Amino acid sequence: MHYDPRVGNGGLAHDPLTALVVPRPIGWISTIGESGIVNLAPYSFFNAVAANPPFVMFASAGVKHSQHNAERTGEFVHSLATWDLREQMNITSAAVAAEVSEPVLAGLEMAPSVAVKPPRVKRSPVAFECRYVKTVDLPGRDGGRHPFAIVIGEVVSIYIDDALIHNGIVDTIAARPIARLGYLDDYAVVESLFKMKRPV
Ligand SMILES: Cc1cc2nc3c(=O)[nH]c(=O)nc-3n(C[C@H](O)[C@H](O)[C@H](O)COP(=O)(O)O)c2cc1C
Repeated sequence: MHYDPRVGNGGLAHDPLTALVVPRPIGWISTIGESGIVNLAPYSFFNAVAANPPFVMFASAGVKHSQHNAERTGEFVHSLATWDLREQMNITSAAVAAEVSEPVLAGLEMAPSVAVKPPRVKRSPVAFECRYVKTVDLPGRDGGRHPFAIVIGEVVSIYIDDALIHNGIVDTIAARPIARLGYLDDYAVVESLFKMKRPV
């Protein structure tokens, strides 16, 4: 089949877009809210978009707390979502009021960051401390504004659990990161890797 995504789903029961870009890493974004409360939520429109120096982005469908807080305070932190933390990650996606702290809701202990105020998820083996750079709006249908906006941050400090580091190499597989697949409840877990040499 072939279809124009600006018009519809090509007759499919559900929009297949997210099933076609897989797996999508999960940005588990912590920020500080108006009242100083710690906000935490998963974003699978998330990725690293540049290295040396590194930048990451997450995209928010409407101005949710994470975007609002990142823009207001100029800071956010991404913690790696792993198989062991999958239930807690899911709980933190609940649409709760700004006064509700999702780490408390999910029974998650947070640990202080080094360079920014939002803390990281203590049990997560990797965290990126980010300084908010800019929000990029996208054109929507009929010349309007797209519901999604891209929030970009520069990674200014990186935490890695020493237990993951062997001979100077980070054992990503040992962390068992989880990622989003296409439809509502579908996830992947990264459990294997293969190597392939680039052509010279
Ligand atoms: C795995 C997962 C990935 C998600 N990815 C996104 C996303 O990329 N963009 C988005 O706007 N919402 C996403 N959501 C929904 C948000 O996590 C949810 O709306 C949350 O309540 C937002 O919290 P906040 O208002 O505290 O930022 C995702 C939910 C889950 C479970």
